[in-house]
Amino acid sequence: MDKVTAPSVKAAKGGDKLRMVTAYDAPSARIADRAGADIILVGDSVGNAMLGFDSTLPVTMDMMVHHTAAVVRSKPRALVVADMPWMSYHVSIEETIRNAGRFIQEGGAGAVKLEGGRKRIPAIEAVLDAEIPVMGHIGLTPQSIHAMGGYRVQGRGLEAAHTLMEDAKALAAAGVFSLVLEGVPDLVAERITGDIDVPTIGIGAGPRCDGQVLVYHDVLGLGDRHLPKFVRKYADLGEAAVEALQAFFADVLDGSFPAEAETYHLSEEVAAALAEEQAPSGG
Ligand code: KIV
Repeated sequence: MDKVTAPSVKAAKGGDKLRMVTAYDAPSARIADRAGADIILVGDSVGNAMLGFDSTLPVTMDMMVHHTAAVVRSKPRALVVADMPWMSYHVSIEETIRNAGRFIQEGGAGAVKLEGGRKRIPAIEAVLDAEIPVMGHIGLTPQSIHAMGGYRVQGRGLEAAHTLMEDAKALAAAGVFSLVLEGVPDLVAERITGDIDVPTIGIGAGPRCDGQVLVYHDVLGLGDRHLPKFVRKYADLGEAAVEALQAFFADVLDGSFPAEAETYHLSEEVAAALAEEQAPSGG
């Protein structure tokens, strides 16, 4: 199957639903790719999922480039999209372009994602002008947690719904190749999906988006955070991991690990020579 690219994602509008999942390292990216992901998002959710932070705000460019490069080294068929962290596209256009460029040059990503509506259009246009495809992200944008007053569903009122719909149209017109809709009522997501010619990818945005995304650790039951209502947990790998490690430790304690088949041996000749060295010399 051909490598997924930003243009092929854009062209998938109206076709099969797009499947996107986050990954932050080579083994998880390999698993996501084998499972059939179209897009692997190196999300700034790495902050919560892997780095022990309470939000995405402490995540830096260096952290994101490090994780992006690890994902890209797994050589996935999926398109790798790197999430621009907070403050990497807020200070100046010049810094925005340089930071987006680092994801391509140092990280090897195929596109970047950034959060926000119309006010981000100058940043989006500048990155596009540097030939870097951009995925948009509107609705519940976790980098705006303080401005939003918490993680809250966006676009519930009529005016807020219109704002989101106008943002979506403006971002599509600016040239994003796809648009994440997070924490948005299903009808608003449906309207946006019908209104724009690029695929929408939902997370907590109902079933009528062009694709869906979830966080790897949430889908697989690897995290310990309280899961929002929109997450479906498909496995409990965290529990399976605890049980596996408990079994290992029990075998260590009772001496049944390592067994014969898990042990290296000297050749008979070397073993005999060693034994002779140790034997007390007679008379
Ligand atoms: O960082 C992330 O994981 C994201 C997804 C939730 C879309 O931005």
